[in-house]
Amino acid sequence: MRDGEQTPGVSLTPEEKVEIALALDDLGVDAIEAGFPITSSGEANSVKDIARAVRDIKGSVKSEVCALARSTQKDIDLAADLGVDTIHVFIATSPLHRKYKLRMSKGEVLERAVRAVEYAKSRGVNVEFSAEDATRTELDFLIEIFKAVEGAGADRIDIPDTVGVMSPPAMRSLVGIVVRELKVPVSVHCHNDFGLAVANSLAGIEAGAQQAHVTVNGIGERAGNASLEQFVTSLHFLYGIKMRINFSKLRSVSELVERLTGIQVPPNSPIVGDNAFSHESGIHVHGILGHPSTYEPLSPEAVGMQRRIVLGKHTGRHAVEKAVKQLGYDVSKEELDLIVAKIKELGDKGIKITERRFSKIVAEVVGETGVRLMEVPKWTVITGKGVTPSAWIEVRLKGREIRSAGWGVGPIDAIANALKSIDGMPKFRLSRFKLNAVSKGTDAVGEVYVKVESDGMAAEGFGLSEDIVEASMEALVDALNKVMTNENGH
Ligand code: KIV
Ligand code: ZN
Repeated sequence: MRDGEQTPGVSLTPEEKVEIALALDDLGVDAIEAGFPITSSGEANSVKDIARAVRDIKGSVKSEVCALARSTQKDIDLAADLGVDTIHVFIATSPLHRKYKLRMSKGEVLERAVRAVEYAKSRGVNVEFSAEDATRTELDFLIEIFKAVEGAGADRIDIPDTVGVMSPPAMRSLVGIVVRELKVPVSVHCHNDFGLAVANSLAGIEAGAQQAHVTVNGIGERAGNASLEQFVTSLHFLYGIKMRINFSKLRSVSELVERLTGIQVPPNSPIVGDNAFSHESGIHVHGILGHPSTYEPLSPEAVGMQRRIVLGKHTGRHAVEKAVKQLGYDVSKEELDLIVAKIKELGDKGIKITERRFSKIVAEVVGETGVRLMEVPKWTVITGKGVTPSAWIEVRLKGREIRSAGWGVGPIDAIANALKSIDGMPKFRLSRFKLNAVSKGTDAVGEVYVKVESDGMAAEGFGLSEDIVEASMEALVDALNKVMTNENGH
């Protein structure tokens, strides 16, 4: 969490940090680096809140809570007073950092590190020691300082690749040497400047490291850190290494961090990206429909994801027919022709046929658009600089015609508030909102994806329109209809 929050532009409130920490504990991570208390009193308070919140969780196995501290008595005292299990003490060791940042000699750095570890140990906590910029440090000095802090009582030693300059073979070699020299467990901390953070972390494990620092969605300083979801999934499915991780929660934790940090997960991100289990080309869809393992190395459900069949202009008739059957329809040859033609027409416009769009096309062709408990046939939204965004809506809800108005910080907030103030509308919270242009130009078609939470239930909604406010309205209406359908036991 600490390095993840160092992502440029990210700043979490104490409540948000506690929410993420509890989700990480529930996911089954061994340790949570809750923060760097010396940076602000707010940060110190969040570390304290997290330590307390995790301690108060019922159940036997909990994540260890850790705080970062420079090698100074002041930092260590502050961290120790917050009730954490572990203090992660660090000092930079590379010639560059010694000369331009610390202005200290090797001897001074070594002495400071040893004193810090001894002092932290005297405060009755576990101590992990990191040599910042370890991978650009002279090897003999690195080993010397690691042995010295081990002698001073460090419980774990971490090797940070602070600016992500290692390659997997180099990492394997360095970690192997360090592991052979030390008795305590060794950890790796890899940054992603060359896109190698996960590969380097795995190389570290191959060489004997027993721990790796990772972040959800790979967020962090500059290009980020090794991604938790990619690292643990590789360890489990490719290396067969057992961990406490509850894999089915990976997607929800990723979504939580995406929502709270505002850092979007790219669609092609492994494991948790929207496309990670989407299939479009005719050959792939055909294969998947025959047996999912043809084009899926692991099942989407194993990591809390869902398979999406995205049909496009290249999709063969056979695959469309199978996909139609999977939706539960038995269509005539003419209906199938119409469905294929519609898919190709949208595909020529550059619009992808997602599962939801596909269901809509099929339902329209077979003349079955479904019963909707709620519709918004008319609406007006006003927004602009110097005006309060407002929405006036006419709603048809379970047979009633209702008018409502709402104001908000933006047009979507105004629409949501107008909907929320309607009697009989389920109470809901928008937990995810994504807008993508699915074609090009200023008249591009916008697709909005929303996730709403209502009374412990979550529902997704999609909207598609050249008008992004209309697409948002459609998506909200879609999701709320699903909520109400479930409520009514349909
Ligand atoms: O990248 C780094 O070197 C760090 C240290 C504080 C461990 O985050
Ligand atoms: Zn780091």
